[in-house]
Amino acid sequence: MALLNLDSVSLVYPGDDRPAVANLSLAIDQGELLAVVGPSGCGKSSTIGLLAGLTQATSGLLTLNNMPIVAPGPDRAVVFQDYSLFPWMTALDNIVFALQESGRALGKAAREEAGKLLEMVGLESYSHKYPGELSGGMRQRVAIARAFALDAPVYLMDEPFGAVDARNRVSLQDLLLKLWIGSGAKKTIFLVTHDIDEALYLADRIAVFTPGPGRVQKIIEVPFPRPRRRYFLVQDRRYIDLRNEILSLLQKEILEEFQQVEGGAGI
Ligand SMILES: Nc1ncnc2c1ncn2[C@@H]1O[C@H](COP(=O)(O)OP(=O)(O)OP(=O)(O)O)[C@@H](O)[C@H]1O
Ligand SMILES: [Mg+2]
Repeated sequence: MALLNLDSVSLVYPGDDRPAVANLSLAIDQGELLAVVGPSGCGKSSTIGLLAGLTQATSGLLTLNNMPIVAPGPDRAVVFQDYSLFPWMTALDNIVFALQESGRALGKAAREEAGKLLEMVGLESYSHKYPGELSGGMRQRVAIARAFALDAPVYLMDEPFGAVDARNRVSLQDLLLKLWIGSGAKKTIFLVTHDIDEALYLADRIAVFTPGPGRVQKIIEVPFPRPRRRYFLVQDRRYIDLRNEILSLLQKEILEEFQQVEGGAGI
């Protein structure tokens, strides 16, 4: 049964004439890792805002465990696209704060756990730096460590690795898989990404959005058994076919939108 459910959800921001999300229906099962890909501006972050309870839908219904989503809650950890850390707290203290807020650890134990989380994301020697003293990719890694500290059942992640360099990205993807599988019940993850390979490596299903307003164009089941091995995956014929299918879905939509604007001229 679906844990997260979006039923004909639309969102028009105040003052806008065009919806950011239009009639979006999507069901995400408990323990599922769903990736969302789609062109810039198609409403991916807006959908995260709705699922997080930070924004209210103009129409339609969003539920978590059959209960309407009306506000943010500790059951959902959000990694924002702009990795919003508290600028007045060091990297370590940002994570300590999350551990204490979620009640997972206090005092010395929280500082030790925060140190381990920073080490996991490769930033143990930056623990006393403030966000303003870190690079974009480093800030993003602190934000991920902070989200991991929350140990929530649902993760809403908006391009969490977008600003991270290739080497760290690969290890963070594997870290995310560890977090997902966890020790008890699997977490439910809604992951927005621009990286098709990332989606194919991580996800159970991939929702390809239309260019906008946000709707699902196609849901793709990722057929590869786990654990997935990058090296073998990229050589698998089905991987290459799925990758091409997603690319052509994205390109087709962009092309169609362009044709509408241009009246089809010159293509
Ligand atoms: N707070 C806001 N107020 C008004 N309009 C907004 C707001 N946030 C987003 N929008 C508009 O909603 C639409 C969808 O934006 P959204 O940020 O959800 O796209 P996205 O798919 O996350 O794009 P990207 O891939 O570039 O991050 C855009 O037209 C954008 O201008
Ligand atoms: Mg976005």
